[in-house]
Amino acid sequence: MLRSAIIGVGGFLPETVQTNEDLAKFVDTSDAWIQERTGIRKRHRARDDQPVSDLALEASKRALAAAGRTADQLDLIVVATTTPDMTFPSTASILQRKLGAPVLTAFDVQAVCSGFVYAMSVADGFVARGLSQCALVVGAEAMTRLMDYTDRGTCVLFGDGAGAVVVEPVEGQGTTADRGLLGFSLRSDGTKQDLLYVDGGPSTTGTVGKLRMVGNHVFKHAVVNISEAVVSAAKVAGVEVSEVDWFIPHQANQRILKGVADRLGIDEAKVISTVADHANTSAASIPLAMDVAVRDGRIKPGDLLLMEAMGGGLTWGACVVRY
Ligand code: UT7
Repeated sequence: MLRSAIIGVGGFLPETVQTNEDLAKFVDTSDAWIQERTGIRKRHRARDDQPVSDLALEASKRALAAAGRTADQLDLIVVATTTPDMTFPSTASILQRKLGAPVLTAFDVQAVCSGFVYAMSVADGFVARGLSQCALVVGAEAMTRLMDYTDRGTCVLFGDGAGAVVVEPVEGQGTTADRGLLGFSLRSDGTKQDLLYVDGGPSTTGTVGKLRMVGNHVFKHAVVNISEAVVSAAKVAGVEVSEVDWFIPHQANQRILKGVADRLGIDEAKVISTVADHANTSAASIPLAMDVAVRDGRIKPGDLLLMEAMGGGLTWGACVVRY
């Protein structure tokens, strides 16, 4: 059977860095509070003239280079973003043009912070059915564009960045030893939308809007929901959570990462954490964290990876991948 294997990963953080101290100069907050409650030390900000497609472009070039592929080999681009360049065309179509890729299948996936896990499952629908021979899956966000800098409960939490993976079909035996995507679980509960949303949109206010969140409620849902999705994805994949080599969580808050690990009995040493360095980059955070751990040698070929996320919608999900 065909499996969807990740053959290259790349990440990009825009050059401008904003530390907690930088924020404390104009927001009623402190480095101590942010670090203690979230683990975040700094975030990156895209310049005003740096659209999210530019972040996606840099991450994609790095993923293609890591995979030993060129843009002209791509036949599918899926971009997970909640901060597109424009209402339309999709950021995926803009990225196709900027990469100089040929005419191919390209579209965006919108599941906010869960976007990368959703996008991986969408790409799997093409790759594992033989409909794509070389796919690019990107998570790219300019979340700082959605911040209300008078709301200290949200504006300190988010940052900008992009991560990308190249996915190709590989022959598997249908066992858990196969390389590639082994299973996933995806969830949405729209009745909880008031806990985390943006107060604008093209067909309501005609504006982009600002992010609104009831942080402590989202926090509680996150630990419970993510844990359930992890167990479910592991069951679909046919593996035990204890067999997983590396957990690559959505990077929202170090306390959520720890809460999920504790609930599932996961050794914290197996959890890839990069939230300190780039804050919550929504759909970009999983591939950004994966990129760091592949490049520093922690994640090796054959390792069993578990990616998980939760965000606005509420949406949440997890996927199991043998690298
Ligand atoms: O991507 C997925 C979506 N997002 C998340 O997963 C985020 C989920 N939520 C969280 O990470 C946490 O709930 C927060 C970091 C947002 C907040 O931490 P908390 O421990 O839940 O704090 P809280 O909201 O219960 O607020 C505690 C206190 C409040 O003051 P009072 O009312 O106790 O006097 C807040 O006003 O902390 C205050 N506070 C701040 N103080 C300094 C809130 N934000 C700040 C701030 N600086 N930036």
